[in-house]
Amino acid sequence: MINTPLLGATLLLSFVFLRLLGRNRAKLPRVGRAGPIGYVWTVLRSVLDSDGLVTEGWERFDGKPFILPSMTGEWIVLGPEFVDLLRKSDDSVINAPKRNVELFQPAIMFGDIVSNPYHVGALIRSDLTKSLRSLVPEILEEAQLAIPDVLNIPGTEESIAVPLFDTMVRLLARVSNRAMIGAPGCRDEQFLQRQVSVAAQAIPMAQVLNWFPQFSKRAVWKLFSVLAGSKDECVRLLTPYVQSRIDYAQQDNPSTITDLLLRYAPEEDLTDARRLAIRVVHLNMASIHTSSIFTSHALFELARLPPAQLALIRADIEQAIDSEGGVCNKVAVGKFFLLDSLLKEVGRYHSLFAVGPSRVVLHETILANGTIIPRGSVVSLAPKPLHFNPKVYPDPMTFDPFRFAKLRHEGKLDGAKLDPASDVRNAFTSLSNDYIVFGVGMHACPGRFFAALKIKIILAEILMNYDLSFPAGESNTPKPFAFNVFTMPNPSARLVFRKRKV
Ligand code: HEM
Repeated sequence: MINTPLLGATLLLSFVFLRLLGRNRAKLPRVGRAGPIGYVWTVLRSVLDSDGLVTEGWERFDGKPFILPSMTGEWIVLGPEFVDLLRKSDDSVINAPKRNVELFQPAIMFGDIVSNPYHVGALIRSDLTKSLRSLVPEILEEAQLAIPDVLNIPGTEESIAVPLFDTMVRLLARVSNRAMIGAPGCRDEQFLQRQVSVAAQAIPMAQVLNWFPQFSKRAVWKLFSVLAGSKDECVRLLTPYVQSRIDYAQQDNPSTITDLLLRYAPEEDLTDARRLAIRVVHLNMASIHTSSIFTSHALFELARLPPAQLALIRADIEQAIDSEGGVCNKVAVGKFFLLDSLLKEVGRYHSLFAVGPSRVVLHETILANGTIIPRGSVVSLAPKPLHFNPKVYPDPMTFDPFRFAKLRHEGKLDGAKLDPASDVRNAFTSLSNDYIVFGVGMHACPGRFFAALKIKIILAEILMNYDLSFPAGESNTPKPFAFNVFTMPNPSARLVFRKRKV
């Protein structure tokens, strides 16, 4: 008989020792314990506490570059003076696509969508952002229909306590897909469930695949798919909706992201909706969980706010909509200044990863301080040292929902004249060397404008219709959950939604 725990432990330790053999040759200090046993301990610790290791490395090595050992290999963590190295890179030496293939394993899980990533390039970067105005009514309508559905407050009750992250994933999956494939596809429960579970499995699974040698990855993925279900069922359920968009797009103007996708799709994809559906599943993956993490953190923060601050945010939203004649259009959403500020502070304070963004070094590189970075190394940034820098963000340990609004409004919240330069710099979707939630440089998240729009619409709808609180006896600061380098809100934490009496 096979002793499963013993087999599991043996495999895990073998992988850790493989990591030990493949250590980076850069002459940089390593965070964690010394010696081979200490190294094994550090690698195991990184699975649940990369954040703690990064903080430790940052303090111990005085902000200088150091190596973070992890189950997904060794990451060279660079300090603020090297943000430009990643930001200005053009992939010739410091390369993002090859790194993403390693980190997220799309080729193994989705097939060949990497050699022609037309669903990522111009589509998201340009066309989607230009189309946001026309998507607002659709996103708004879907949010209005979906919020009561996912909360599902029984007819006899006024409130309900729900596990927040899971609820937001279901909500974001539906609202995002209204923009992605349109209605009624976005309401197909079976498809949404499969899409959510594909997205939930894919990131941790990509991390696990990283533990295996290249030649075995495909077999491991096949085995996992048999045990836990793969993307295939999701793609099968999605294909008819994507097919219907192909037919629609031939007669009409584009109105969904899939319609836009058709402009870039090669002939073989246009005649095989399944291939297009794989791209949509992949985009959904990049979109749903990241947005749900943000929305959940934001709702926890909103539930903790003093009533006076919450009242200011609600008034700001109402004023913005009134200024557009009572219509919640893209211009109105663009004026949700206080919500925008809160979201940017959510990103600063919570982030989504302990280390990232990361790139692979294609040729040996010498840093400005003389450190040699060998070919094949992974270089990365870490949000915490940047986002908690007191010189940039005074009182950084305090969550200040209006931190960025004050910077945009010349220190005031009451409609003071905007300073155009700091207005742009301090908007949620703006990138800077001190704010890396959406990454840096030419590979910074191209979906952030779409993400910001749908998150703001959803939050505004919730704030206008529900009061938020923590269930009696439950923590109002639930500890986030970490896996390898990624972090997310605690999946078991709940929030109470009570219908507002206005
Ligand atoms: C709040 C939500 C989101 C966050 C925090 C987020 C964050 C990120 C980050 C950190 C990166 C890596 C950037 C880098 O390497 O420098 C990224 C890349 C990417 N994101 Fe997002 N994202 C979000 C929403 C979305 C949405 C809604 C979409 C699609 C509609 C999307 C599509 C992408 C794509 C395609 C890339 C790869 C870009 C490239 O490699 O050139 N993201 N995102």
